[in-house]
Amino acid sequence: MYKIVEWKKDKVVMIDQTLLPTRVVYRTYNDYKAVAKAIKELVVRGAPAIGVAAAMGIALGAKKIKQTTLKDFKREFKKVATTIAKTRPTAVNLFWAVKRMNDIVEEFTGVNIDTLKKKLITEAKNIHREDIDRNKSIGKHGGRLLKTNSTVLTHCNAGALATAGYGTALGVIRGAVAAGKNIKVFADETRPVLQGARLTAWELMQDNLDVTLITDNMAGYMMREGLVDCVVVGSDRIASNGDVANKIGTYTVAVLAKAHGLPFYVAAPTSTIDMAAKSGDDIPIEERSSKEITHVRGKRIAPVGVKTLNPAFDITPARLVTAIITEKGVIKPPFKAGIKKQFAKKKK
Ligand code: MRU
Repeated sequence: MYKIVEWKKDKVVMIDQTLLPTRVVYRTYNDYKAVAKAIKELVVRGAPAIGVAAAMGIALGAKKIKQTTLKDFKREFKKVATTIAKTRPTAVNLFWAVKRMNDIVEEFTGVNIDTLKKKLITEAKNIHREDIDRNKSIGKHGGRLLKTNSTVLTHCNAGALATAGYGTALGVIRGAVAAGKNIKVFADETRPVLQGARLTAWELMQDNLDVTLITDNMAGYMMREGLVDCVVVGSDRIASNGDVANKIGTYTVAVLAKAHGLPFYVAAPTSTIDMAAKSGDDIPIEERSSKEITHVRGKRIAPVGVKTLNPAFDITPARLVTAIITEKGVIKPPFKAGIKKQFAKKKK
């Protein structure tokens, strides 16, 4: 599989997801402000991948700080971390990664700033490596939930491309396939940015997995026809009561799954759980440019001047979620207690 985000020769290298699937282009970043712009413009996207890119962007910015006293370094570091933190509001993995990087600075007691810079690079690399390990565990736990022969519907891209590698929702599918199960996937195209059509379909085909692309408004039909056995999606932020923020349209799929008596699973690492959010009401929803709706791949499809609304995410209430799969295991309702128990076990 392709590398998604990488620390290479003291630079950040990322696959440009805005160009997939027609072109596979890698971008090299040597400036943290360019990394921030890349996060905003979806060159890198998907909650865990945003977290990894954020950490690497911060390491890059820190590396270039010229100040040599800890006090002056901290002042400049704050500017770097704030710029990165302001890129996208919903995926909590971003703020989780910024905090981990910030903690390295706060806990540093030495005087040699070069040592601190090295520690920051190591932490960014750790965040990258840990994410892959977590996704593989999610795949093992979640893979057990899928029946031997089943068709899974997924929304958006919660695959390798949305993480450091392997994926969360697609990690569950990979885990089931690795366990010898015969899994077919329906990928919702996921308007308006088409992460399902462009990214999920492409990445599953790269692995020779059985994927069928459908438009978002076909999910209900497929379920009523008995063609779907369960839904597996990722998440950008999970509140402490089990409410789930994920790509716009996820809520609709969850309502449909409930209406058809199908399990609705959410796969995410514990870095996606926000214990400070009591419910979905506490999760900020990113509003993106109207151009994502009025244009398709740069071509206008709507009248000039039409009013638009473009929330990039929605909230699926916990009551519609069958189980949350993290690297620590499967959480079943009541989620509040289950999440608290898993979170207590969390090391970082
Ligand atoms: O706007 P995006 O592409 O960053 O949104 C991505 C999603 O909503 C994913 O489903 C979510 O981040 C889970 S990724 C493992």
